[in-house]
Amino acid sequence: MDVSPPLGLLAELTHRCPLHCPYCSNPVELTTRDVELSTEEWLSVLSQARELGVLQVHMSGGEPLLRPDLPALVSHAHELGCYVNLVTSGLGLTAARLDDLVSRGLAHVQLSAQGATRERADLLAGAKAHDRKLVAAALVKEAGLPLSLNVVLHRQNHDQLPGIIELAERMGADRLELANTQYYGWALRNRDALMPTAAQLAAAEPVVRAAVSRLRGTMEIVYVVADYHEPYPKPCMYGWGARQLTVAPDGTVLPCPAASAISTLALSSVRDTPLSEIWYESPSFNAYRGEEWMAEPCRTCDRRGLDFGGCRCQAFLLTGDAAATDPVCSRSPQRALVDLVLSRPGVSDLVMRR
Ligand code: SF4
Ligand code: FES
Repeated sequence: MDVSPPLGLLAELTHRCPLHCPYCSNPVELTTRDVELSTEEWLSVLSQARELGVLQVHMSGGEPLLRPDLPALVSHAHELGCYVNLVTSGLGLTAARLDDLVSRGLAHVQLSAQGATRERADLLAGAKAHDRKLVAAALVKEAGLPLSLNVVLHRQNHDQLPGIIELAERMGADRLELANTQYYGWALRNRDALMPTAAQLAAAEPVVRAAVSRLRGTMEIVYVVADYHEPYPKPCMYGWGARQLTVAPDGTVLPCPAASAISTLALSSVRDTPLSEIWYESPSFNAYRGEEWMAEPCRTCDRRGLDFGGCRCQAFLLTGDAAATDPVCSRSPQRALVDLVLSRPGVSDLVMRR
């Protein structure tokens, strides 16, 4: 099949992070500092990604500000002609550091927030973080950069949705991403405590709709649905190995950020294989490209061009088979697995990320 070049690179510079969010989708076993790619290796990854066609680089983590070589990486990506986005908790962002990054070509900042109020947000972050995020947001606006605010929604903060929208307005965010939790990595451990109720989702819908309408032209609002509650799965990654690649802190190259969960997948590393070879030829990237791999009911389904059979990671985590129809789908013979999760009473105890 014809494979198009990737548009975006998610560069997970480190898994180290000052926060302890219970909804973290990074793997349960995090990459340790001693095996992180060196500066030289990251510079090579960025060059190879640009040669491959990448135009957007999202520098992420963990907390990318914990890498002292972040400025050099931003410079290099910018000089290659890439649009550079920093995905950050905001902790560690000072005026001096931001000015330096902007002078090197940083184009956009995506800041996370955990809730609308200091008390709730700090509880969910497992750290005194909220006030520092307010400062970080103000710095980004002062620097004249576009600001996106990303808030992961779940049972423990859905009630704060109106306040979260107000927070984004106060920050002057250009974009607000309200993303219901996806259950990968650490988040899967906390699924029963994070799963929103049907009533919470029903209450959120008119609040989001009203805000989208009121703020049109001022702030873009993106609402990512709680897919367990939906009849059809999300078009995850817009198809496997179709648009974006992720490089993990140790150089493992992933077709999607959560793909290390699929233990049956033989993943390649930039430490021993060129990035273009991994993108075009590796077994991991080709495993679920196109439609050849699909079994019934996806194989003959009229929606397969819309959702690509759903999420491979979710299929694996819930059924043990990454080629199965995403069990979120109402046409999946295994939808009962999802309904069983939804029928369980919620719990309040969260296991914080360690
Ligand atoms: Fe999508 Fe497969 Fe469900 Fe059809 S059967 S809607 S292709 S996940
Ligand atoms: Fe990996 Fe959906 S999160 S394919």
